[in-house]
Amino acid sequence: MNVSLKEDVQKKYSDSYQFNNNKYSNEIIIEVDGLEKSFDGFKAVDGISLQVQKGELFSLLGPNGAGKSTTIKMLTTVLKPSNGDALINNHSLIKQKNKIKPFIGVCPQDNVIFEALTAEDNVLFVGRMHGMDETELKARTKYLLEQMNIAGRKKASKSFSGGMKRRLNLVMSLIHKPKILFLDEPSAGLDPQARRLVWDFIKELKKTGMTIILTTHDMIEADVLSDHIAIMDHGKIIAFGTSEEMKKDSTNGNILEITFHSEEEYANGLNELKQIENIHEIKEKDNYKLVVTFTGGITTFKREIITRLEAFKTLHFREDSLEDIFLKLTGRGLRDN
Ligand SMILES: Nc1ncnc2c1ncn2[C@@H]1O[C@H](COP(=O)(O)OP(=O)(O)OP(=O)(O)O)[C@@H](O)[C@H]1O
Ligand SMILES: [Mg+2]
Repeated sequence: MNVSLKEDVQKKYSDSYQFNNNKYSNEIIIEVDGLEKSFDGFKAVDGISLQVQKGELFSLLGPNGAGKSTTIKMLTTVLKPSNGDALINNHSLIKQKNKIKPFIGVCPQDNVIFEALTAEDNVLFVGRMHGMDETELKARTKYLLEQMNIAGRKKASKSFSGGMKRRLNLVMSLIHKPKILFLDEPSAGLDPQARRLVWDFIKELKKTGMTIILTTHDMIEADVLSDHIAIMDHGKIIAFGTSEEMKKDSTNGNILEITFHSEEEYANGLNELKQIENIHEIKEKDNYKLVVTFTGGITTFKREIITRLEAFKTLHFREDSLEDIFLKLTGRGLRDN
């Protein structure tokens, strides 16, 4: 997969273009080219281009109003693009819209379920619309509802909690074994336990070879699930890569906070640290404390520190998070509007 970015960001993340691990195939299943959507002259999606490889999990991460849902709606043929096109499994969004529908599944941001029906009947209804074999449909419905912890309920789904409705909608979106699954904020409104259940479920789905595109404003979710992440803001993709690549390439890198017992220990420590190559910056703080930013892996760095320093009081490492990266790119937090 790769993504078209603004030139500076593109350069920074250029390593991302060369990945080729064996977790998913090299076959491109979605190719987006200059996709744009305007509402009364306002560009909700402002010319994005990206490629998704078959079998990978790709996250669009961004704050409210970034254009994530509008992108998903275009890719799933719900909204007509104002400009640009995309090839979904080799079919043009603009010219072959109806050929795309049979092999995609969509879980929209706002649940679409038939509230008068039970969970099972909702799923069976969708499966039948897709023309599934009845025996397979029934077995798969039972299995998936069990996985989502909503099997065996005889009541109409209008009595369900928000979290149960979300999990039901998730099952409905993939009952027909779509080749490509679009999940718009799959874990929105779920409590931590249900969120974990959904994450595990998505990980299992990925093992079946399904290509999954999800949107989220939750950096932990993106971090935990994704093969690749595109950070979206104001209708544009402003960064792209694996979570590790983004953290590694971030100018701040990883952070070490180290404290010492005495002036002498502090001075010796500072002297030793200055000789380590991949240190980006050392900030001297009060109370014999240093804040060190460095690039490269934490484990190797930690080993070097412990070998070099004779004495210190505390060592605390932390990684740049996706939140830090977003903040650096935009000057705002992911949750700010
Ligand atoms: N039908 C519409 N008419 C006018 N403006 C719209 C329409 N749909 C979306 N927008 C605007 O386009 C922008 C992008 O909206 P979109 O729903 O794609 O964002 P999002 O990234 O999914 O946000 P959220 O995290 O809140 O779901 C927003 O400013 C939104 O108000
Ligand atoms: Mg949205």
